[in-house]
Amino acid sequence: MAVLEILHIGHPLLRQTARRIEQAELSNPALQRLAGDMIETMHAEDGIGIAAPQVGALLQLAVIEMGDDSERYEEAEDFPLTVFVNPVVTVLDEAEQEFWEGCLSVPNLRGLVPRPRSVRVDFMDLEGKPWSLEAEGFLATVLQHELDHLQGVLFVDRIRDMTKLATIEQYRRFWADE
Ligand code: NI
Repeated sequence: MAVLEILHIGHPLLRQTARRIEQAELSNPALQRLAGDMIETMHAEDGIGIAAPQVGALLQLAVIEMGDDSERYEEAEDFPLTVFVNPVVTVLDEAEQEFWEGCLSVPNLRGLVPRPRSVRVDFMDLEGKPWSLEAEGFLATVLQHELDHLQGVLFVDRIRDMTKLATIEQYRRFWADE
């Protein structure tokens, strides 16, 4: 396994739509290795999720793992390591919530992002087994953030009030306690 380079905002691959993964591809060692490397990279960067386009692979593949001891996000809750293949998001509750988001592809910034507060995600795991997961609160935001990457969307695109875009330093100074 290897820690992969994370692409940063401005890289064109972050702005493209990732393609679906065929069932037959799941047995491809290269795909299994990519997923393993994404997990290792997420751990190395202390992130709570990585989508394949962030490491330059235009595939509908993402990994998420959160612990409530996350150094990056105090809102983080426990969510076990999960690999999402071909995830589809369905909004269950259009009512919005707002969380300050950051992204390994948008270094040193945080922004306040409104999103639907409850979603369902239908996906496959790496063995091709189908799963369906319902989430609300911060996990719902994390899921939507990661799966946005598969459509070429970054959290900065969804900030409505640009006065709520801050460096991490200024976020901590002025906004973290709000
Ligand atoms: Ni991100």
